[in-house]
Amino acid sequence: MTHTPTLDLAVAADLSREHIDVAAVLDELVAAAAAAAPTSIGYPGAVDLDHTAVMARLGARLWNNIGDPSDTSGVAHTRVLEQAVIAWVAELLGMPADDRWGYVTTGGTEGNLSALVAAYRRWPTARIFFSTAAHYSIRKIVEMIGARKVVVRAHPDGEMDYDDLAAQVRKRRRWPAIVVATAGTTMTEAVDDTSRIRAVLTEYDMAGHLHVDAALSGIPLALDGKLRLDDARQIGSIAISGHKFLGVPTPCGVVLIRDSIRTPAGHPIAYTNSIDTTITGSRCGLAAALLWHAIAVHGREGHRWRAAEARSVAAYAVQKIRATGWRAWRYPHAFTVVMPTPPEAVRAKWLLATDGQLSHLICMPGITTGQIDALAADLAAAIRAPIPRPRAPHTPEVTTAS
Ligand SMILES: Cc1ncc(COP(=O)(O)O)c(C=O)c1O
Repeated sequence: MTHTPTLDLAVAADLSREHIDVAAVLDELVAAAAAAAPTSIGYPGAVDLDHTAVMARLGARLWNNIGDPSDTSGVAHTRVLEQAVIAWVAELLGMPADDRWGYVTTGGTEGNLSALVAAYRRWPTARIFFSTAAHYSIRKIVEMIGARKVVVRAHPDGEMDYDDLAAQVRKRRRWPAIVVATAGTTMTEAVDDTSRIRAVLTEYDMAGHLHVDAALSGIPLALDGKLRLDDARQIGSIAISGHKFLGVPTPCGVVLIRDSIRTPAGHPIAYTNSIDTTITGSRCGLAAALLWHAIAVHGREGHRWRAAEARSVAAYAVQKIRATGWRAWRYPHAFTVVMPTPPEAVRAKWLLATDGQLSHLICMPGITTGQIDALAADLAAAIRAPIPRPRAPHTPEVTTAS
């Protein structure tokens, strides 16, 4: 669907204008986003869930979960729903009930920040290890908190190179190690093997912390029983995005941290009558309610079904793309389909994520086989199209005066 704007948004939205047509501005935003939706398949937001029940009831008032999620004082907050979300995710991950703490964040990035701040506070001389395939937020956070970073090689398929991790750890045995594993790397959805990381840390007798950045794959892998934070795994924390697999229509996430590693656990604040344990002060209670609703309506089985359906669309996408003669692959657990960056004509129409020679589409729940068919047809046409040859440079005719 192509969209022809009915107004110049930047001009129409300019707040210095005397008359602003508020409805027209909002309608234009919605129309542009709706028109772009069918070809927006490069980024991992599920589009199959209906959140209107929450928006209709809660959308007209401020819900502020300021302070610790366990605090029950105050009014107009959704902390009871937030606690239910945290308990559900922690149970799904098999975290021991007597050693867990978490809250609803603004997204995966804040979850990573909260967990790494807690780990670094406990191990202030630690080196923080993460791979070249880790999300850019990890490097930023390590630099923000003033820690020393160690970048470990990742294989071309995105998984951490454990031999390189071992070599890097061996050189830094004097200091504790905080290692960030990724469960669902941004480009290929690779999952770092935490038991292999643990084995490296054990081999060199390292103290420290293992954090999992599971922004995309946290919930689907936990539903499969493939991601656990029970005692055996010795994983200290995890960050998950709420607007990815759970499709919440506002950026949000969940962080879970072993309660026993939080030192100190937080300061009491008189003004808010709460304990200051979270990164931000005011926190979005609407996001917690939306997460709670997405979980309450579908439950574990519903979400397992969503993950299975999305993976079968991803498998279909690999087949259809390969049938055009273009390469494509995915991990068996993945929604992400990786391919060599397609011709410009395809990229101009389809919002794929591209990193140099590599592009991906992500078959999140709600992406249909019809969309995949349309993409494959455009790809096939672009591959068949003759490559325009550069024109010969124009040489002006030279006339010589006789
Ligand atoms: C692996 C990984 N970690 C963290 C993030 C950041 O999550 P958010 O956008 O929710 O802050 C992303 C986002 O794409 C991601 O892919």
